Amino acid sequence: MSARVLVVVPTYNEKESIPGALSRLREHVPDADVLVVDDGSPDGTGQLVEQIAADERDAGVARSVSVLHRTAKQGLGKAYVAGFGWALERSYDVIVEMDADGSHRAQDLPALLAALPDADLVLGSRWVPGGSVVNWPKNREVLSRGANTYTRLLLGIPVRDATGGFRAYRADLLRELALGDVASRGYCFQIDMTLRSLAAGARVVEVPITFVERELGASKMSRDIVVEALVNVTRWGIAERSRRVAGAFRKVTRSGREGQAVGR
Ligand code: GDD
Ligand code: MN
Repeated sequence: MSARVLVVVPTYNEKESIPGALSRLREHVPDADVLVVDDGSPDGTGQLVEQIAADERDAGVARSVSVLHRTAKQGLGKAYVAGFGWALERSYDVIVEMDADGSHRAQDLPALLAALPDADLVLGSRWVPGGSVVNWPKNREVLSRGANTYTRLLLGIPVRDATGGFRAYRADLLRELALGDVASRGYCFQIDMTLRSLAAGARVVEVPITFVERELGASKMSRDIVVEALVNVTRWGIAERSRRVAGAFRKVTRSGREGQAVGR
């Protein structure tokens, strides 16, 4: 039996982009079901997806498209946590995160899924050899590279693209993580989930992707999202450092008492 895959796509005002995203998914990964998590988009994205889903059902298309309607814009992180819960209740084996705006290419998804047998979390990565960005404004590229360097150095994690939003999780990993207390709302949700996965001992693998800047609609990136990420990464970095210092201190006192080095 092959793995059941659910692609979770958060949306806020993506009516121009979502039809193309859904049809490209159908073309490149026809077996994957899709859940759109819409935060009550004023432009009617949620209703549009309902219509597409109904049309596909009528046409006898094998995959299913569903919509989780939420009442207010609560951030990408909250939308994903809700979507993950929906997926776990329905016993999917693999859960994919993907943007609606075409930046994440459906044609790259098979490569992400192909890496899963040897990983628990596969990150689509712009910043490993073979990865790239197309048409991204220079300031966004600088921000993303800077955020990733800061994250990697401060948190001491070996990941090149911890902020990316195109990734595949094994459901077993998501079940292990305490999703209920993920407080990150904006894009730092991605860093938060990467850290939690590493802390849980997950095998995290990066696969190169081509990230293409959206052609339609607008990014939801904001100052608040950047500030939340900066504050959280700094907080997590300090917490991690003090854990390490406390660990080293315990080692020193213990080895003093026992007259030998302990642990690693
Ligand atoms: N439901 C919901 N609620 N969806 C949201 C919200 C929200 O509050 N905010 C954003 N989204 C959806 C968008 O509609 C889109 O499908 C996806 O999340 C990504 O949002 P964009 O606004 O297009 O993000 P971006 O292109 O600026 O940022 C990309 O790069 C970031 C930094 O690397 C994304 O891939 C982010 O995931 C990534 O962290
Ligand atoms: Mn985007």
